[in-house]
Amino acid sequence: MELKELRAKAENFAALHKALLIKAVVAGGALGLLSLFLLFGPPKMIELTETPQFCALCHANQNGDWLHSAHRGEKCIDCHLPNDNFADHYLWKSIDGGKDVFFHFSGLGDGNDTQLTAHGKKVLQANCIRCHTDMVSHINQKRSCIDCHRTLSHRRTALTLPREENKK
Ligand code: HEC
Ligand code: HEC
Ligand code: HEC
Ligand code: HEC
Repeated sequence: MELKELRAKAENFAALHKALLIKAVVAGGALGLLSLFLLFGPPKMIELTETPQFCALCHANQNGDWLHSAHRGEKCIDCHLPNDNFADHYLWKSIDGGKDVFFHFSGLGDGNDTQLTAHGKKVLQANCIRCHTDMVSHINQKRSCIDCHRTLSHRRTALTLPREENKK
């Protein structure tokens, strides 16, 4: 190959990488701005995404069951997100929220027909104990609360027409 040709190739290569880098920086900046907007924007998006009504957009089944449960006074995120500290709460809100949205819009998952992840179960258990500290102070807290309190599982709380699973 001619030296000239080689140099032209190298320059092309460098230009391409510069363009890619600029694109990456712009995308990163836009993402940062978007998060800031969501966090502090006038419509108070974060507050909205903490409401059961928001979760119900994709979880109509669990929402319907929850409305008939003893815990209808508690929000979904009181049980389904870590609530021991601020950082953990928002970290997992981003991870779980991102995952939920991805699965929903890619069609890979169905919010009305899904199961808790292993992490979701740990979060749940910690929240049961957090709110019922006195009640459970004398029992083995490693044992899953919902092993016995099955009525808390959404599928079993519904007082109206039972879901298909309940009939089995
Ligand atoms: C845009 C639709 C959408 C919204 C809004 C949404 N979810 Fe989900 N969620 C999904 C989908 C889809 C899945 C199934 C994901 C999978 O198959 O792994 C899911 C799974 C879950 C699971 C079970 C899996 C796990 O992480 O343990 C829980 C719990 C959950 N969502 C809670 C919530 C809560 C609480 C809210 C409101 C703060 C919420 N979701 C808002 C779509 C959504
Ligand atoms: C008192 C705590 C509590 C509250 C409040 C609560 N859940 Fe749950 N959630 C549970 C339990 C318990 C399970 C079932 C775990 C199991 O059976 O393995 C569950 C499971 C789920 C699942 C996994 C799929 C399933 O049906 O098992 C989703 C999705 C979910 N909840 C969404 C919600 C949404 C949306 C809300 C609010 C409208 C909500 N949860 C409110 C305790 C709660
Ligand atoms: C955010 C706080 C909170 C969380 C989280 C929570 N609870 Fe409760 N729970 C309450 C309150 C408040 C009541 C009383 C409701 C009433 O009397 O109307 C209650 C009632 C109950 C009852 C009696 C009513 C019934 O349905 O039988 C049981 C059992 C119970 N909780 C177990 C659990 C378990 C197990 C978990 C975890 C899956 C859990 N709770 C998570 C606040 C909470
Ligand atoms: C070995 C089974 C078992 C396990 C595990 C268990 N419980 Fe219970 N729990 C019971 C029984 C039985 C009662 C009494 C129910 C009744 O009086 O209707 C009860 C009562 C309660 C009550 C009071 C309900 C009321 O009507 O006032 C709460 C709250 C509660 N449990 C929370 C929890 C939490 C949180 C955990 C997990 C740390 C847990 N339980 C684990 C069996 C269990």
